Amino acid sequence: MRAGSFTFVSVAATATMLAGLVSGMTPSGVFPQNSENMTNFYDTSTAATNGVNIPKRNTNIAPTLALDKAIANKTFAVVMFDPDTPATGVGGNGTNSFLHWFQDGLTSSVSEVDVAGKNVTPLVNVLHVAALQTYVQPSPPTGQTHRYVQILLDTTGVTGFVVSAATGNATTSRTGFDMNAFVQESGLTVFSSNFFNVTGV
Ligand SMILES: *[C@@H]1O[C@H](CO)[C@@H](O)[C@H](O)[C@H]1NC(C)=O
Ligand SMILES: *[C@@H]1O[C@H](CO)[C@@H](O)[C@H](O)[C@H]1NC(C)=O
Ligand SMILES: *[C@@H]1O[C@H](CO)[C@@H](O)[C@H](O)[C@H]1NC(C)=O
Ligand SMILES: *[C@@H]1O[C@H](CO)[C@@H](O)[C@H](O)[C@H]1NC(C)=O
Ligand SMILES: *[C@@H]1O[C@H](CO)[C@@H](O)[C@H](O)[C@H]1NC(C)=O
Repeated sequence: MRAGSFTFVSVAATATMLAGLVSGMTPSGVFPQNSENMTNFYDTSTAATNGVNIPKRNTNIAPTLALDKAIANKTFAVVMFDPDTPATGVGGNGTNSFLHWFQDGLTSSVSEVDVAGKNVTPLVNVLHVAALQTYVQPSPPTGQTHRYVQILLDTTGVTGFVVSAATGNATTSRTGFDMNAFVQESGLTVFSSNFFNVTGV
């Protein structure tokens, strides 16, 4: 299998716990918790970072992710989800989310870009790896503010992983997606995280 492409295998999950996750740039109460910041932007004038509210109209195509410095020789996948779905209401903990985006094959670019006055290093998909799930624009109900969480997974050297049928199904259907279960079952390491808010119009 080509590096950066995954298949889901429907077998029972191994109950591997990731150790050392601490609270941080994932929103309070959403799992998995992670403390490493990441910059996310739709245009370079505004960082869609650390819970800021982004106008829905600015979110129609996938954001660019960026790290504070270039990281050589690593590949990453981003998983973006909404923990505040109609199924849970606002305040969900990430175990019953809507999966908005799952893109593997990201690598650190070599050049920096200025995002709202801060120099960051974008993550790019130079090999044009197909998304596991293409980006779906945030669209919360009118007047409701939802959190949109991005978890960056380290996929360096990973050519496949096994998750449970339930997790595989939720990844395919996008609904009832449990990010915490996904991380535990896949054994992938969380590298950094971010979230921003969008209010329904
Ligand atoms: C992460 O972001 C928070 C909120 O903006 C900030 O307080 C903190 O200093 C940042 N941490 C790093 C390591 O940049
Ligand atoms: C990245 O890989 C190249 C080629 O193997 C190596 O020369 C370089 O030292 C590595 N860089 C880092 C930061 O690991
Ligand atoms: C998330 O919330 C659900 C529903 O309230 C609960 O069953 C589950 O144990 C919670 N998960 C975590 C990791 O807190
Ligand atoms: C982001 O949305 C959450 C959930 O609605 C809310 O609790 C939080 O206050 C919002 N953050 C900002 C900066 O508006
Ligand atoms: C996963 O989806 C398949 C096909 O729709 C279904 O047969 C199976 O029961 C589902 N498994 C779980 C655990 O949801």
